[in-house]
Amino acid sequence: MSKTVIPVAPARQGLEIPPLSREPGAGPLVDARGRGLRDLRISVTDRCNFRCTYCMPREVFGTDYPFLPHAELLRFEEIVRVARVFHGYGISKIRLTGGEPLLRRGIEDLVAMLHEALPEVDLTLTTNGSALRQKARALYAAGLRRVTVSLDSLDDATFRAMNDADFPVAGVLEAIDAAAAAGLAPVKVNMVVKRGTNDHQVVDMARHFRGTGHIVRFIEFMDVGATNGWRMDDVVPSAEVVRRIAQAFPCEPANPNHFGEVAKRWRYKDGQGEFGIISSVTQAFCSSCNRARLSTDGSVYTCLFADRGYDLRSILRGGGTDDDLARAVAAIWQRREDRYSEVRTEETARQRKVEMSFIGG
Ligand code: GTP
Ligand code: 5AD
Ligand code: SF4
Ligand code: SF4
Repeated sequence: MSKTVIPVAPARQGLEIPPLSREPGAGPLVDARGRGLRDLRISVTDRCNFRCTYCMPREVFGTDYPFLPHAELLRFEEIVRVARVFHGYGISKIRLTGGEPLLRRGIEDLVAMLHEALPEVDLTLTTNGSALRQKARALYAAGLRRVTVSLDSLDDATFRAMNDADFPVAGVLEAIDAAAAAGLAPVKVNMVVKRGTNDHQVVDMARHFRGTGHIVRFIEFMDVGATNGWRMDDVVPSAEVVRRIAQAFPCEPANPNHFGEVAKRWRYKDGQGEFGIISSVTQAFCSSCNRARLSTDGSVYTCLFADRGYDLRSILRGGGTDDDLARAVAAIWQRREDRYSEVRTEETARQRKVEMSFIGG
């Protein structure tokens, strides 16, 4: 068997990976900490029409920001090829992200291609909702079955300030309804909670979505990327979020849907549904992290907080076979040791890391 050499992106120097003893189809792929590979998150564009202050602050992502030129993006055929290779190792979920994935032209076609290639995979997408009302039915027809929509506040002024694109709450609420009506249900709603900015909206969000069938998840503000000015003081621990909601609406923990589920589930005792908390900062979940991320330009990142990825695109475009890709994926996963959220400090928070808009949430 030949040696696999996978260039490292963005630094682009070569990283030599030893020959593998492991072939696809031989059971789950396990990393250096014993974690299986279950979930592939694919960023389809690094662009977004929002400038959420915690993700793409406008001072950094301004009009002259060097977004990727089109030729650098993986083409749909290339994405499907990579997805098939990952599927060879048993992944059961694919999430399309961005930036804003609905800005990628022809996104419905990519959904259809992935659904056709891998019909048994749980195919989903995370969006800011701004184009979802128009696209919900086409996405459903293409094979998408559920969707996650970001919404950080029900208060219009707060939300417009957080998305920094003057986008109104009503537009996102309409999108959520349109998605559910099209069959993309249950809709999950992501709220990033930032102290002093939108944390006064936690109970209102819970109240609004109780009994609707939609599931809100309250996410701790994270130090993703290196541009969002993260400080521990801005994080509202999920335990505090639960306490505030429980005072208004009695609730109890519910069992996870599957091992390694990111959100911890809480159920309202009066039967009005559930909400979730995602506590990457105060209760890290690295020990069960089963997620690989494919960036817009075709590199694999093994952690949301990584500072480099492995460049699959050069294998794809350099005449590599599916077998070459499969061996590369196995090598990448088997050497994986990431556990950033377990070792986070104020110091690491300032280090160079890939931006969330580049590898998806
Ligand atoms: P489902 O369980 O299928 O609904 O998906 P999910 O819980 O992965 O949902 P989603 O993709 O919406 O993830 C929710 C948020 O959790 C993301 O936007 C991130 O903020 C955070 N998140 C997801 N995966 C990770 C991870 O691996 N590490 C960290 N630190 N945060 C993550
Ligand atoms: N902290 C936590 N979550 C974030 N997201 C983006 N930036 C951050 C951050 N700094 C999440 C939001 C959004 C998804 C695309 O990424 O939940 O819904
Ligand atoms: Fe865009 Fe989502 Fe980032 Fe907001 S969180 S800037 S909507 S990619
Ligand atoms: Fe996984 Fe990295 Fe998030 Fe930990 S910090 S859960 S290893 S993506």
